[in-house]
Amino acid sequence: MQSQSPANLSAYHTFGIEQTCQHLVTVHSVQDIIQAYQQPQWQALPKLMLGKGSNMLFTEPYQGVVMVNQLLGKSVTESEHAWHLHIAAGEDWPALVEWSLAEHMPGLENLALIPGCAGSAPIQNIGAYGVEFKDVCEYVDILHLDSLTTQRLSNQECQFGYRDSIFKHDLYQRAIVVAVGLRLSKSWQPKAEYGPLKALAEDAITAQAIYDIVCQTRIDKLPNPNEQGNAGSFFKNPVISLAHYQQLKAAFPELVAYPAQDGMKVAAGWLIDQCGLKGVSVGGAQVHPKQALVIVNANHASASDVVQLAAKVRDHVWQRYQIHLEHEVRFMANQQETYLDQLMERR
Ligand code: FAD
Ligand code: EPU
Repeated sequence: MQSQSPANLSAYHTFGIEQTCQHLVTVHSVQDIIQAYQQPQWQALPKLMLGKGSNMLFTEPYQGVVMVNQLLGKSVTESEHAWHLHIAAGEDWPALVEWSLAEHMPGLENLALIPGCAGSAPIQNIGAYGVEFKDVCEYVDILHLDSLTTQRLSNQECQFGYRDSIFKHDLYQRAIVVAVGLRLSKSWQPKAEYGPLKALAEDAITAQAIYDIVCQTRIDKLPNPNEQGNAGSFFKNPVISLAHYQQLKAAFPELVAYPAQDGMKVAAGWLIDQCGLKGVSVGGAQVHPKQALVIVNANHASASDVVQLAAKVRDHVWQRYQIHLEHEVRFMANQQETYLDQLMERR
């Protein structure tokens, strides 16, 4: 296990912002992770498991150990009704989706091109185009950080919700995902109700056709992090009460919202767009001119530029709609995770 001390993080997260960490180590196995936790000289340091860094903003130099996930390997077993995929946590998610289709195992096509590792997918229960990770997840294998032993969690035990799971609650900072199990049904049913997929003629609906449309839509709508640093949707789509929704809908008839479990889920991109914030910049950070929910590193942005721009967006949306936006992107400060509200309070 080789480490760099200190290391530049700019190539390890998709915002591509200059930032450093005290130690950086690539982990290839569960044993490597255990070793990192048992290294006497790292014992007192905070540690961060990093996938592809596509949902991360490092707000300060990280005074700890970053472990880059390179746990690789995939295997398939077959039962009467399904394929069961066992995927090591460091496998690349978009490559996995592409491979599963090439191997004639449909079911992941709606989740095409979501950057990141397979083992990061359960953390926020990734979702797009009408499907979430929870819909294909059979189990999640974890390493418990208190006992350094592994355990298998069922789908139910992961407590998946919209951009949410047990890993943000009871198991927060207590577990590392080391593998995921996916169940792809042999009686494939298309999920083609979301946006551009609705245009598919019924007799033309194949997994490959859904994959192609999802990829094309994503390429058209979302900035490519290799060309312009970003972390996808910066904020979550907020869920508001039915009463609040009705009041806003009366004032803003064009409001975009969908029924959700505890009320109505509002399109944050629409709210930000209506505030006239598309293309607005702070320093080198910019609200993407085509997709208001994405903040991009347009010109050598600092983390502080991104934070200030995010605060501006949040404040405008609050003033106009009395809706509080929560960021989806995870903020890492020098020792531990931080949040927009916390950072703005400190100023
Ligand atoms: P990282 O960013 O490296 O890590 C994210 C968090 O998970 C961190 O807190 C990290 O510590 C923790 N973590 C990572 N790996 C582990 C592990 N093995 N065990 C425990 N904790 C871990 N998301 C969607 O849901 N839908 C989308 O459509 C979507 N589109 C995107 C488009 C773009 C262009 C970009 C840049 C991002 C998009 N995202 C989307 C967000 C991102 O792809 C997901 O959050 C993805 O799962 C992050 O994976 P990662 O490996 O990069 O995780
Ligand atoms: N909209 C605008 N202006 C904008 C952006 C969006 O008016 O600038 C409107 C759109 O016209 C549409 C609505 O907002 O009516 C929703 O937009 P879209 O379908 O593009 O989806 P989104 O809410 O912006 C969500 C996810 C994405 C996911 C897509 C597709 C969240 C926070 N974001 O985006 O996930 O890929 O749906 O399912 O839930 C991510 O999490 O990083 C991410 C990219």
